[in-house]
Amino acid sequence: MFEHLEKYAGDPIFRLGDEFHQDPRERKVNLTVGLYYDDAGRIPLLRSVQQAEARLGGELRPRPYLPIEGLPAYRSAVQELVFGAGSEAVRAGRVATIQSVGGTGALKVGADFLHAAYPDSHIWISDPGWDNHHAIFQGAGIATHTYAYYDSQGQSLRFERMLEDLRALPRHSFVLLHPCCHNPTGADLSREQWQALIPVLAAGELIPFMDMAYQGFGRGLDEDAGPVRAMADAGLTFLAANSFSKNLSFYAERCGGLSVVCGSADEAERVQGQLKAIVRRIYSNPPMHGGQVTALVMSDPELRALWEDEVAEMRARIAAVRRQAREQLEARLPGYDAGYLTEQQGMFSYTGLSAAQLHALRAEHGVYIIDSGRISVPGLNTRNIDYFTEAMAAVLRG
Ligand code: LMR
Repeated sequence: MFEHLEKYAGDPIFRLGDEFHQDPRERKVNLTVGLYYDDAGRIPLLRSVQQAEARLGGELRPRPYLPIEGLPAYRSAVQELVFGAGSEAVRAGRVATIQSVGGTGALKVGADFLHAAYPDSHIWISDPGWDNHHAIFQGAGIATHTYAYYDSQGQSLRFERMLEDLRALPRHSFVLLHPCCHNPTGADLSREQWQALIPVLAAGELIPFMDMAYQGFGRGLDEDAGPVRAMADAGLTFLAANSFSKNLSFYAERCGGLSVVCGSADEAERVQGQLKAIVRRIYSNPPMHGGQVTALVMSDPELRALWEDEVAEMRARIAAVRRQAREQLEARLPGYDAGYLTEQQGMFSYTGLSAAQLHALRAEHGVYIIDSGRISVPGLNTRNIDYFTEAMAAVLRG
């Protein structure tokens, strides 16, 4: 009955992570999936999470369905984290928010919502971008295209071309943007560039979809959300997805949020209802445990302060690894400019390595990097960074 179906080639990111685990070599380095590892190579269970779980674990409770849109305390926490404590849009009731199944779940619900609201619109995604964005939007029936974003040869943003591309879009087109820690390049727009971009989006009556999966890993929790807040302040109507996978090290709990900033409270109420209708059709309502822990960490002042310190610690480690990798590469390869490592920020760095170089790194050195040449920086630590930079220098020498 299903023999006609194509075999799944595997996800380009997760597949390589699986290959890494199957590699029997002892000396190997995993820079594939965007997972934060500490210097000991472990995925941390944050102290703030442990304390929240201890508090909640004390009470053994029944598990009724959560509301379709998620826990009220969770949704308020999402709004505060994404839009800021004093957000005018939130206070005015102009923001519809649901608890989503991770950031990816937020994108899926948002994609279904957009397609229902504007069935003829297409979406534009950065070039290069995250493969799964194309898959998610195409899966929701939305045609995907790209806008210029980054020149991997020159290691620089193509901001003027990006503006030109966006100026040419039909009205009500969707535009996928990364407020911080761009995946896969780690190259973000400056504050001035956001200020120049927002009027272009407004003038074209475009509908931005801000995907913020790495809040706190760039410059800070508030700083990283700056572009989302600037867009809300400018009065745009847009969607924002956020995720607790990385900043709460909560990957498997699938905790995220989808918010839609609207022009009025009445519009937000309609949107909230449509989001609920979509959720009901896909998974009915979100899971409880991760949502409760997240809401407690975000809302309890003591746990929140601890969590913010932990996020700062993760951010500082990533920045330190970037500096060290740059120094080592430049020392090993006189004349090689590894400045991109410290100019880019967040989880990822875009090396510009060719397919042949990536293959050699994998085959000869056991260094796993996905095909775009993106490295997940926290995969590096004091025990493997020398090995990694030596391997990379070897393939760059050719
Ligand atoms: C990544 O890009 O590696 C992460 O966002 C994990 C994922 O879902 O692909």
